[in-house]
Amino acid sequence: MSNDLPAVRTAGATDAAGIAAEFIGVTQRFGTFTAVDDIDLRIPEGKLTTLLGPSGCGKTTSLRMLAGYTRPTSGTIRIHGVDSTTLPPEKRGLGMVFQSYALFPHLTVAENVGYGLKLRKMSTKDIQRRVTETLDLVGLAHLGASKPKKLSGGQQQRVALARAIAIRPRLLLLDEPLSNLDARLRVQMRAELRRIQAETGLTVVLVTHDQDEALEMSDLMVLMRGGKIMQTGAPREVFARPANRFVADFLGYENFLTDQSKTFVTVRPEHLAVGADDTGDALRLDATVVSTAFRGVDLLVTLDAVDGAGETVRLLADVRAGDGAVLTPGTRTTVSAGGAHLVPLHDSGKE
Ligand SMILES: Nc1ncnc2c1ncn2[C@@H]1O[C@H](COP(=O)(O)OP(=O)(O)O)[C@@H](O)[C@H]1O
Ligand SMILES: [Mg+2]
Repeated sequence: MSNDLPAVRTAGATDAAGIAAEFIGVTQRFGTFTAVDDIDLRIPEGKLTTLLGPSGCGKTTSLRMLAGYTRPTSGTIRIHGVDSTTLPPEKRGLGMVFQSYALFPHLTVAENVGYGLKLRKMSTKDIQRRVTETLDLVGLAHLGASKPKKLSGGQQQRVALARAIAIRPRLLLLDEPLSNLDARLRVQMRAELRRIQAETGLTVVLVTHDQDEALEMSDLMVLMRGGKIMQTGAPREVFARPANRFVADFLGYENFLTDQSKTFVTVRPEHLAVGADDTGDALRLDATVVSTAFRGVDLLVTLDAVDGAGETVRLLADVRAGDGAVLTPGTRTTVSAGGAHLVPLHDSGKE
């Protein structure tokens, strides 16, 4: 080959700065089925990145390719600037925690956490120090001598996390690690994981189908659908400006309509006012109440309205419960929203 080939995207030192891992045109096919479809993604160093999307959209497959358990059909995976596409998992310096984390039942908590260090032939003294440090980090220093079955689900999950962290992985990959926990514990563990990530400065890639989890935990959020990346950005950015209808829908926007200026927009239920209100009139439509649902603090009002394109649209407004006393089904009213809350969308189609 000659030297004057066009420049391909190489991982030069400056190019790779701050990037822990990179997917470049990565595709994964299973037979004729494309599970991951030509994705490009940069995972920032020292941050928490989430892969978010509905079941089957290719999150786990992407993570498995990053870990080296599955080889991409095409494309390149770089880890810290090095083409690692065909590198076996044990050479990638990764820690992983899956949804169904398996602790070794016959080993103590401390032995579980030290397991990977022993494999790496670390000295007993160093293992002890590292295990104590790591158990401290996850708040389990007092349980080192216990067997896993004596622990609660949340504690076991922390041990799994500690075991993955103990080896000081260059990348920590977490596949729905909280989904086996009950709702309250799951919310606690989000904050806990976030704290651990911040304290250690670890690069974390977390897979989840839970938008609240992703919004709360991510530095960078990657929304996937059907093997493709729909949008990448900081949570506030993506939440305020969903790129398309799918993302908006997934993040709870609910209302999709054409406004007076013929722009296809979406607006969140809590930003849609019902009846006379001072929320602004960038959007103002006559509407008829279909039903209401009392939720304690708030009231969800379902309405039908004719939008700026002359289409009848079903809308959902989330108003304060006290405001909704007269909103019986059939009531004619208006819905309105301020311009700041109308998010223009390019694709009006649901598919
Ligand atoms: N080994 C495999 N063989 C065939 N199909 C697979 C395999 N692994 C995953 N898939 C399919 O690829 C799609 C994406 O799967 P996955 O990455 O596990 O989704 P997610 O983690 O987002 O729920 C699904 O339709 C799944 O059935
Ligand atoms: Mg999965």
